[in-house]
Amino acid sequence: MIVIAIDGHSSCGKSTMAKELAKQIGYTYIDSGAMYRAVTLYCLQNGLFVDNQLNLDALKKDIQNIHISFVNNPLTGRADTCLNGKNVEKEIRSMAIAEKVSLIAAVGFVREALVRQQQALGVAKGIVMDGRDIGTVVFPDAELKIFVTASPEIRAQRRLEELVAKGEPTSFESVLHNLTERDRIDSTRKDGPLKQAADAIVLDNSDLTIAEQNQQLLALFKSKAE
Ligand code: DC
Repeated sequence: MIVIAIDGHSSCGKSTMAKELAKQIGYTYIDSGAMYRAVTLYCLQNGLFVDNQLNLDALKKDIQNIHISFVNNPLTGRADTCLNGKNVEKEIRSMAIAEKVSLIAAVGFVREALVRQQQALGVAKGIVMDGRDIGTVVFPDAELKIFVTASPEIRAQRRLEELVAKGEPTSFESVLHNLTERDRIDSTRKDGPLKQAADAIVLDNSDLTIAEQNQQLLALFKSKAE
């Protein structure tokens, strides 16, 4: 069994492809972004954002009490994210979380705590984890590293369709702004910035169907695992 690290820009279908690959090869899928989103939800629920400013001292005190776990959802066949035992899968996907999560993900002590949890989830290998720093920081020795990207306009259109389907209508411009802003913050932060690992394989899926992308990924897995 190997470790598969899938990193890349926001909303380029990383989790869709990671989930599908994990299902096909019988590996565990872990969505590391969900963990940053859950910490963001915790901060919103506990008044740690005051006038848009994050209360870092309070978060530092609380970080050891923020427990994130995953539970299988029999209806979707996927893992739902739990924050201190409560299923928060739906809440963490909202725009309110998307707007704040990059601020949380830039905090060094939050990253340290979550990276430790992510590494623990991968000790037995047989894992597909997606995020921003999986191939560079979390699993620098991962046997297969993929760096996924697509044009910002294509990513914004895909994300808009997802939000509309979920009954959270918004505009193309605001989605495009949110994701380019997240890319900027994610790529320029000091700790664990989004960057391609030297040994990662780039997958630009702007012009690929989901089926084509899954096929490419499966072929890459076979080339590494066999
Ligand atoms: O993949 P996502 O959109 O759910 O990620 C949410 C945010 O978390 C994103 O803005 C970047 C951050 N993130 C991170 O910094 N490191 C990771 N390993 C995963 C996500």
